[in-house]
Amino acid sequence: MSRRRTFWALAAAGVLAMSSIAACGSDDDDGGDGGGSSSGGGDKPKVAVLLPDSKSSVRWETVDRPLLQKALEAGGVEANITNAEGDKSTQQQQAEQAITNGAKVILLVNLDSGSGAAIAANAKSQGVKVIDYDRLTLDTDANDYYVSFDNEEVGRLQGEGLVKCVGDKPDAQIAVLNGSPTDNNATLFKNGYDGVINPKFDSGDWTEVDDQSVPDWDNQKALTIFEQMLQKAGNKVDGVLAANDGLGNAAISALKQRKLPQVPVTGQDATLEGLQNIVNGDQCMTVYKAIEREANAASELAIALAKGEKPTTQTVPIDNGTHKVPSVLEKPVPVTKDNVSEYFGAPDYPTKEDICAGKVAANCDKLGL
Ligand code: BGC
Repeated sequence: MSRRRTFWALAAAGVLAMSSIAACGSDDDDGGDGGGSSSGGGDKPKVAVLLPDSKSSVRWETVDRPLLQKALEAGGVEANITNAEGDKSTQQQQAEQAITNGAKVILLVNLDSGSGAAIAANAKSQGVKVIDYDRLTLDTDANDYYVSFDNEEVGRLQGEGLVKCVGDKPDAQIAVLNGSPTDNNATLFKNGYDGVINPKFDSGDWTEVDDQSVPDWDNQKALTIFEQMLQKAGNKVDGVLAANDGLGNAAISALKQRKLPQVPVTGQDATLEGLQNIVNGDQCMTVYKAIEREANAASELAIALAKGEKPTTQTVPIDNGTHKVPSVLEKPVPVTKDNVSEYFGAPDYPTKEDICAGKVAANCDKLGL
């Protein structure tokens, strides 16, 4: 039974927001370390970014941080980016500190909806705008915008990828590793892939070995959970629906430890490790999300709000359980060994040199990369 937490009132095609970053400031106050008083003068308006952790996915520190920094600074605002390393009270403090330091806008990647809603409510009470970055905060009226990807589509692509990779193997035994139960995205991903794989279970084509959520997207916990799944299945697993590259890699490591053959494993984020796993044949697909577009769209909104202007970005309404949040949703795409090279050169995609380094080089050669 698929869980019910879908807020996808928008029926239509994925809304693509081509975010062009607003022509940037030729502000002459380029030093701008903002000495504390927010009382005007040459100080740039301040935007705080609250990242969730650095372990649930490498994306936050290696891709989102630099791209947000760049886009915000190009728009003439001061960016202050912190990372809560998975700790809700740390994130709360970082939000309070940002407001004390004069932030006009907070770009928030929440650690769960409850703590996110508390941060948003506090910000709202002090006239600070909140943009949900990547993860929607549910059940609050205090978030002003939401910028992310079509996350049900991410899940659908994972489900379809697994179906293709498993092919017509009879009675395939499939294990499912979901993301964190506290992340609304994990629910959306699951809605997406369940729509594709549940019919396979229902028809008897596939058998579900197990379906488990991984708390906090913790890769170490994913390894333990997957080892238990292998145990339960007597090592017979023919495919793994893993909700991101980190969880996929945990499954791959467990299979390798037991010297089991390669099986199709899915992923998400097009991380260096995920793409190397694809080139090596250990992973069947990942989902590439053009984070530069996400970062630029969020920055465009933040820059306008921080300058006291009304954003002109085109949005769609997404219901968070309390209100319809004006949202920008970018489009995800699947990556398999057949199109690994398609996104080489993108600023949010690993380089060919990094992917094909060291021991991976031989397999890159085989793929003609
Ligand atoms: C993001 C994914 C990421 C996961 C773990 C999700 O909310 O959308 O890109 O892999 O969190 O950090």
